[in-house]
Amino acid sequence: MVAGLVLVLMIYLMNLSTVRDDSYLQDSCNFQLVESIPWDMPYGSNSSAAKPLYQAWMELLNMTQESIHMVSYYWTLTGKDLDVNDTSSQQGEEILKKLENLILENISVFIATGVPSKANLSTDLKVLEGKGAHVKQVDFGHLTHGVLHTKFWIIDRKHIFLGSPNVDWRALTQVKEVGVLISNCSCLANDLWKTFQTYWDLGVTNATIPSPWPSNYSTSINRHTPLEVQFKETTTKAYFSASPLSFCPEGRTFDLEAILDVINDAEQFVYVSMMEYFPTSHFRHPPRYWPPIDNALRSVAISRNVHLRLLISCWIHTDPSMFHYLKSLSVLTNPRANITIEVKIFIVPVGNHTNIPFARLNHGKYTVTEKTAYIGTSNWAEEYFSRTAGVGLVAQQSSTDSTKRNPTIQQQLRSLFERDWNSKYSINMEDLPGQRDCVWKDGFRYSREHQIIV
Ligand SMILES: *[C@@H]1O[C@H](CO)[C@@H](O)[C@H](O)[C@H]1NC(C)=O
Ligand SMILES: *[C@@H]1O[C@H](CO)[C@@H](O)[C@H](O)[C@H]1NC(C)=O
Ligand SMILES: *[C@@H]1O[C@H](CO)[C@@H](O)[C@H](O)[C@H]1NC(C)=O
Ligand SMILES: *[C@@H]1O[C@H](CO)[C@@H](O)[C@H](O)[C@H]1NC(C)=O
Ligand SMILES: *[C@@H]1O[C@H](CO)[C@@H](O)[C@H](O)[C@H]1NC(C)=O
Ligand SMILES: *[C@@H]1O[C@H](CO)[C@@H](O)[C@H](O)[C@H]1NC(C)=O
Ligand SMILES: *[C@@H]1O[C@H](CO)[C@@H](O)[C@H](O)[C@H]1NC(C)=O
Ligand SMILES: *[C@@H]1O[C@H](CO)[C@@H](O)[C@H](O)[C@H]1NC(C)=O
Ligand SMILES: *[C@@H]1O[C@H](CO)[C@@H](O)[C@H](O)[C@H]1NC(C)=O
Ligand SMILES: *[C@@H]1O[C@H](CO)[C@@H](O)[C@H](O)[C@H]1NC(C)=O
Repeated sequence: MVAGLVLVLMIYLMNLSTVRDDSYLQDSCNFQLVESIPWDMPYGSNSSAAKPLYQAWMELLNMTQESIHMVSYYWTLTGKDLDVNDTSSQQGEEILKKLENLILENISVFIATGVPSKANLSTDLKVLEGKGAHVKQVDFGHLTHGVLHTKFWIIDRKHIFLGSPNVDWRALTQVKEVGVLISNCSCLANDLWKTFQTYWDLGVTNATIPSPWPSNYSTSINRHTPLEVQFKETTTKAYFSASPLSFCPEGRTFDLEAILDVINDAEQFVYVSMMEYFPTSHFRHPPRYWPPIDNALRSVAISRNVHLRLLISCWIHTDPSMFHYLKSLSVLTNPRANITIEVKIFIVPVGNHTNIPFARLNHGKYTVTEKTAYIGTSNWAEEYFSRTAGVGLVAQQSSTDSTKRNPTIQQQLRSLFERDWNSKYSINMEDLPGQRDCVWKDGFRYSREHQIIV
């Protein structure tokens, strides 16, 4: 009798573990690039494009069966949140409505956001909390003297969105963003969930950062041992990085190290698309020199003739001191020594969208080499690695499909980069004076008092 029970129990447990294993075996880890192109910013008809952000977010929400974990620096999904009446807020309002409906269908929604934040007029989180969402405002001001700048979504502990966009209607229609959707990938989703948990568990009064973090936050998926998944003809290697260092439990690769690895591994080219580039601190006066990324770039360009291209954003709030640092890189170009460092500035035209605050800019943050795709949430300046929470995805794919119908993630990201680099929105630094929609209009509009984090 007892033996029979034990046997039944054993079979039951074996089934349970088989189910678990199966969910891992089913991991196909399908990677799709995602982007948003601001309204009234046409590209040539034949140019490559990624999945539109609105479609990616709606698909994810449509897929949801059990749970959503979201991290965003701030939330503004309605025009009202910003006191703006503009049809371009409609997609954001639909996302908010969809989230409300999911909560009413008993989907568990967990939202981590930071204090201090931007957009303190927003009622989105109150609305969602009212319907039953679990919301925590994590005090990064107190924890790291920074902000929670991370942006990602985890659906059913199985699908992921990660990238530059905050949960903001402008991200869908008024700001240029880049991210990645990873579907059917419980292994990576559970790993990213551990980073979610580092924020969530500190969302209590008087929290302090554990040092070391308890072992259940540790990971074995990192730069030394990335996750490796084979699905159909594609093999993917991938891992997530985090910053600042105090938010890297045992085994988690520090975001800065991930970026340096990507640069140092390149043999042919490094293409960087970044909102802000400062080899200094950016939020203290006077700034402090901070060269790790700058050194790595100079080093691969000079010592190994790796071809560098930096595509950096300019908008009306750009700190123009950035251009001096960029020039100091581009002047190294020397065909006789086979050194190529090219810099272009990307400007999103404002057009008639002058009624929308803090919009019309290229906000994406990614790097691509002939080997690797890196998609992050941090700008390149010291505080984004020392105080501000962020994450990155490092991914490499190889394919045995001889028809090359499905380009690898790094090939797709390279195409996006080249489309933007060759577009009319990218200009040389010499052509900056007189540009509309960038700091240079009407002289230097920027003032340090208006320093903001985006
Ligand atoms: C568009 O792409 C197609 C297929 O790659 C090519 O055949 C065609 O010539 C291109 N058209 C233009 C205008 O570049
Ligand atoms: C999501 O679901 C809604 C309603 O079920 C549907 O109208 C919409 O087309 C779906 N969107 C996507 C992107 O799948
Ligand atoms: C927003 O603008 C539209 C058209 O410009 C107008 O019909 C509507 O009344 C405005 N809504 C509010 C709340 O001001
Ligand atoms: C949600 O859960 C409540 C309480 O358990 C239940 O009454 C309701 O029917 C559920 N709704 C849906 C759509 O499953
Ligand atoms: C909202 O932000 C503004 C500008 O940053 C600030 O002056 C104001 O005090 C904030 N309001 C609240 C309620 O936090
Ligand atoms: C995820 O896997 C399921 C089951 O294998 C499949 O039906 C679905 O199409 C996959 N979805 C994506 C987006 O890859
Ligand atoms: C937080 O810390 C303050 C000051 O040390 C203390 O007065 C307060 O009781 C603490 N609150 C909680 C919930 O522990
Ligand atoms: C680790 O365990 C503690 C205590 O049970 C729990 O509060 C925490 O959320 C866990 N963290 C993770 C990432 O599982
Ligand atoms: C320049 O460097 C690139 C990248 O290392 C290399 O492929 C190429 O052969 C070099 N060209 C010359 C002329 O040395
Ligand atoms: C704004 O500009 C776009 C194209 O530049 C045009 O299609 C649109 O009608 C304009 N909107 C308004 C309100 O003027």
